[in-house]
Amino acid sequence: MNFWEWYDRQISAAKKHDVPIYELDWLVLRLTCLDKLDLRLRSPNIAQKITPELLTKLDQLWQKRLSDRLPVQYLAGSVTWRDLELQVTPAVLIPRPETELIIDIIAEHCQDAIYQNGIWVDLGTGSGAIAIALAQHFPKAQIHAVDFSESALEIAKINANANINNQINNQIIQFHHGSWFEPLAKLDLQNQLVGIVSNPPYIPSNEVLNLQPEVTNHEPHSALDGGKDGLDDIRELVNTAPAYLIAGGFWMIEMMQGQAETVRSLLQTNGKYKNIQIHRDYSGIERFISAQIN
Ligand SMILES: C[S@@+](CC[C@H](N)C(=O)[O-])C[C@H]1O[C@@H](n2cnc3c(N)ncnc32)[C@H](O)[C@@H]1O
Repeated sequence: MNFWEWYDRQISAAKKHDVPIYELDWLVLRLTCLDKLDLRLRSPNIAQKITPELLTKLDQLWQKRLSDRLPVQYLAGSVTWRDLELQVTPAVLIPRPETELIIDIIAEHCQDAIYQNGIWVDLGTGSGAIAIALAQHFPKAQIHAVDFSESALEIAKINANANINNQINNQIIQFHHGSWFEPLAKLDLQNQLVGIVSNPPYIPSNEVLNLQPEVTNHEPHSALDGGKDGLDDIRELVNTAPAYLIAGGFWMIEMMQGQAETVRSLLQTNGKYKNIQIHRDYSGIERFISAQIN
């Protein structure tokens, strides 16, 4: 079977399995040296560029996508997030496009020198996406990244080594294993941080089992499950962060649709935050909330 015959069959199979066709294109483009135009225009030399071995590999992976509902990013083992190439395995949450905005919001709100040169922490770093992008954005800052999952930290370290050029800026992200602020307490970082950022687990426990099978069956539940109302970890981040941030320190998290007003009121009731702002994602959903310490 040549590539185009295989491709056309897989388009039909994707429709039957209710899998978006763009995922087929994504996998083909990830695993080959083709570009989008080659696919769109059905470039005649594609078939020459895809060896029978490569076609077999593509087919094996794609069949897993269809039958096991494995996310294509885990099948390919990598994803592009902002300008980073990140390794992903089922040990880490696949970094989402909307999370990219966290870095843009920080860039807009944290232009003063204290933020550029200070200590930042990414809590629940997973693949390391946020910590690495922070390190790139603030090359003079010190970056710490924390996760409860040792296997996630292994992936995050690989990604940091692959994406940060230590020879140029000498910047090394410090990764710590532990729960939220626990590792920071051991490092005596109270009243030292200029920024805390987190994309914590925020889905209510009873919803975690009813998400798309790609998510429920394959992504780590410890990255998703935020307890009964989804806010267990967010409460911890609201309550404990003020002890670690300096006055004016920036606090920002990602959250789920519908949680914004509750989180705003948690921050207000806490009394130690000012400039509370809700930010929308690309779909207009209230996805992020930021504040500063009084
Ligand atoms: C939603 S994922 C976010 C991953 C990554 N920051 C991103 O945005 O793609 C949440 C992360 O928090 C971590 N986590 C869950 N509970 C934690 C805890 N108690 N302390 C530290 N990290 C935790 C999970 O292992 C997971 O990597």
